[in-house]
Formats: sequence, structure tokens, C-alpha cells
Amino acid sequence: MSRIRIFNETDASTVLSEVHQHAGIAAELARIGVRFERWQAGAALTPGATQEDVIAAYRSDIERLMVENGYKAVDVISLTPDHPQKDALRQKFLNEHTHSEDEVRFFVAGSGLFSLHVDGKVIEVLCEAGDLISVPANTTHWFDMGPEPHFIAIRLFTNVEGWVANFTGSAIAQGFPRYERGQALAA
Ligand SMILES: [Fe+2]
Repeated sequence: MSRIRIFNETDASTVLSEVHQHAGIAAELARIGVRFERWQAGAALTPGATQEDVIAAYRSDIERLMVENGYKAVDVISLTPDHPQKDALRQKFLNEHTHSEDEVRFFVAGSGLFSLHVDGKVIEVLCEAGDLISVPANTTHWFDMGPEPHFIAIRLFTNVEGWVANFTGSAIAQGFPRYERGQALAA
């Protein structure tokens, strides 16, 4: 189940508020300019579906966002716990960073944990299958796919080449909860 938890940036041990209901999560995120939606597939996806099948199943929502926000490219990323570089891939976005463009992710399957650092708060968003999140350009955040990553995600870009992480140098992410679900599933 999707979830949002809000912490003061100085206290990772106290959850100030927690919401599981989708409309409540979306309302909380809208206050800081973050888009959060539920998407329904327009066609059934079966095992072995190609990138093109996945994109086709969500084409109307993808096109709506591309028109509204000027995104120019779309792709599909898939990660499973047997990926040989899973630890390095997890590590890549674990520390606080920004991007010069929006980070737009739709979870077709699986899950991941975004933490947004905004206005003195850390806003942790557990994204599950069916969730679309768009983190605005220049928002400080980090992302944890967990020790046993499992997700398929559609990504939207303004400029694929420009999509790099600019690390802030802050160690804040290391003090906040990591995503351990994959570990629990694997145990
Ligand atoms: Fe990011």
C-alpha cells in the first residue's frame, strides 16, 4: 500500500504524520508541487510484455503529461533482485541530490521509496504499482529501491542526456529510514 510519512528534517525518529489513502497523499504532495496520481492500464499486460507494450498500455496518461509538461522522451526501466549490479544501482541515488529536470516515474510493478527534503521537512513517499510521482526539477531528494530491488517503471524526460544527479553533499539521507522491503521479501 502506498504511504507518505512526514518528518522534521532534524528528527528521523518521529513521524509527524502518516497517510495511506491515495487522495490524502496526493493532497499533501500537491502542497509542495509534486504530482502524485493513480494510473490504470488501458490494456492487459502479460509476462514478457515489451517496453512498447508497457508504454502502449498507459499511452493516454503518458501523452497527457508530455503535453502538459513538455516531456520529450519516454522509456521503461526494469530491475529485479538478480541484477548483478543491484548494489551499485541502489547506491547511485541514495544520497541527497537534485536534477535540472523533473524526475517522473510511473510504477508499473514493484515499488520504491522517494524521500523529498523540502521546507525543513523530509517527506517520504512509498510508491507502489499504479503510482505516478513527478518530483519537480531542483527539489532535493533521494531514492531507495531497497536491497532486493523489484520494479518496472515508466520514465518521462525532457532531455535524457541531461538527466543526471547533482549531489548536495549533505549526509541527511543516511539518518533517515532506508527501504528494507526487498530484504523482508527475500528473507
Ligand atoms: Fe533523483
